[in-house]
Amino acid sequence: MVLDRSPKNMSKIFFGLTGSDANDLNVKLVWYYNNIIGKTKKKKIISRMRGYHGAGILSGSLTGLKNYHVNFDLPIDRVLHTEQAYYYHRTDLDQTEEEYSKYCANQLEKLILSEEPDTIAAFIAEPVMGNGGIVPPPNKYWEEISIILKKYDIMLIADEVVTGFGRIGSMFGSNHYNMTPDFITVAKGLTSGYAPLSGSIISNKVWDVIKKGTDQYASLNHGSTYSGHPISCAAGVANLKLLDKLNLINNASKIGQYFNKKLFEELSSHKSVGDVRGVGMLAAVEIIKEKKERKFYSNPGLIASDIIKNMAKNGVLARAMPEGDIIGFAPPLCASEKEIDKIINVAKKAIIEVTE
Ligand SMILES: Cc1ncc(COP(=O)(O)O)c(C=O)c1O
Repeated sequence: MVLDRSPKNMSKIFFGLTGSDANDLNVKLVWYYNNIIGKTKKKKIISRMRGYHGAGILSGSLTGLKNYHVNFDLPIDRVLHTEQAYYYHRTDLDQTEEEYSKYCANQLEKLILSEEPDTIAAFIAEPVMGNGGIVPPPNKYWEEISIILKKYDIMLIADEVVTGFGRIGSMFGSNHYNMTPDFITVAKGLTSGYAPLSGSIISNKVWDVIKKGTDQYASLNHGSTYSGHPISCAAGVANLKLLDKLNLINNASKIGQYFNKKLFEELSSHKSVGDVRGVGMLAAVEIIKEKKERKFYSNPGLIASDIIKNMAKNGVLARAMPEGDIIGFAPPLCASEKEIDKIINVAKKAIIEVTE
């Protein structure tokens, strides 16, 4: 069922329990793949600053948020971080989105060259940055990045733990942004969170190589007591059937456009709102101290936390995203226009009450 819905070049899935363990496996398979084809030096993984890929030793290393590293001795060797694709936080304010995308690709290339290109195995990124601030990619970002990945024969792991199964109004972010990943990581939307289930999806290209590995090294030794647990898989089957039956991905696309347009119209001109961004049923409002000079608060998180508490009192749950003053929204895929109106009214009232 998952492969029926996955991008065409995908071949197999291994079920796990969390997004973190699925990312771990995808990286293990990158290493395994390169050992089988004799590229034993090609092992480093590049992820992005502010990217989020989990909280384990490897997945936490891939994560690009400082608080997940400090005092945990992370990131481990073999994991490197490149420019975040966060247009609102660009240092050169004169850059257009397209110029900024090119700049991000140049930064990636610089890092690859400084580390010896032959040692870089894969790039991992979320199609839309989630936990790092709900940041859709700037225009042409994925086009520019894929040129660099191809040039240096670097595999792409699309971490679709948030974007998989409809969150941005398409089945996968990889389809939405025309990406061609070698691996896809899925979790949350697979069961809509009703039971723990994740998946490492691999492409035909990867499968064709790693199946040869079993001739060389015997069985592929990976798994845990609960991987592919029948209860979780039953929840996944029921959930995917409901997504189809209730036409929820189309709803996420249609209502998501309404949501993002209205959120922008209602909030972007407020003096404390620096940025309103989003795609589908994902959106963020970034609160700022001084809008014209783009000055951020020196103690990030405090204002955002007051705003979401105020919203909760009025019946709407939003999230203060880490390392910033960012209010994150992820309404259910079944939300109606009326419910979206309530979310926006409550958010607007809270922002006015807390900041004025
Ligand atoms: C993009 C992304 N990758 C990986 C993870 C880690 O998933 P889990 O918390 O299930 O380990 C998350 C969790 O929020 C995520 O958003």
